[in-house]
Amino acid sequence: MALRVDPQPNSFGARIDGVDLNTATAVSTHSGQDSGALFERLRDLWLRYQVLVFPDQNLDEDGLVRVTQAFGPCGSEPYLTPSQRHPRVVEIRRARNEAASPFGVSWHSDWSFKAQPPAATLLLSKVVPPRGGDTWFADGFRAYDALPAEEQCTLEGLTAIHSARRSYSPTGYFATDQAPRAMAIKTDPSAYATQTHPVVRTHPESGRKALWINGVYTVGIRELPGPRGDALIERLCRHATQPEYVYQHRWEANMLVIWDNRSVQHCATAGYDGYERVMHRTTTAGSVPR
Ligand code: SIN
Repeated sequence: MALRVDPQPNSFGARIDGVDLNTATAVSTHSGQDSGALFERLRDLWLRYQVLVFPDQNLDEDGLVRVTQAFGPCGSEPYLTPSQRHPRVVEIRRARNEAASPFGVSWHSDWSFKAQPPAATLLLSKVVPPRGGDTWFADGFRAYDALPAEEQCTLEGLTAIHSARRSYSPTGYFATDQAPRAMAIKTDPSAYATQTHPVVRTHPESGRKALWINGVYTVGIRELPGPRGDALIERLCRHATQPEYVYQHRWEANMLVIWDNRSVQHCATAGYDGYERVMHRTTTAGSVPR
């Protein structure tokens, strides 16, 4: 079957049909096409469109890890309990009757508080509610490109402080929220640690510049301590997630989405109370943001 690429109108996000990733990673050839060449093509598409959507991918945990490894070595997943079937896979699960807010419901880049945050995130839908539960993605390249040149220049001289403390520390959200959850989330004092990353990140493969702050893990601007930095983060986050830079993804069961965590931020959405939602997630290891 031939690969079909259907980009979103603004070229942020593309749907890819005509590929069975399970087969492509399980055997060395795929429909007569060498799987190395196939994944080189998919990698190019991923770098170009930043978010790739693969429908009809019936992958178990091993299959998801094989696909992940075709994009890079697996990353590690702090604070989330791994799946019993594979240590590299985490399950994002919300039960039918759960009152807790959905996991990941505020805009963020995955694990941006790490020294080397993930390059790619892979999210595979296992159980999809009949309504709600979409995932939204925001394009950090276009958010940066749209800023006036003078502001781009100012921001390039600034560094942001990232930390997991608001979410995973003993005083953070998951430690203090009382609502029972289907997911086992670990909180730990290590979440108070901080990392400093550039506010404007240069993509290590394409060289494009992205606005790289997010409302969950960016806790300050090193050069602007206190309220001035907080106000700047808030303004930049609002700018970066305005509708014109956002792709709203609607899930079907067995859909795999792979995004570039070095230029894209994302958030889960609610709206499916009364229904179960189950996703499997992996990441690939990344580099130090520059
Ligand atoms: C996440 O990775 O932040 C969760 C996204 C989702 O479940 O839609």
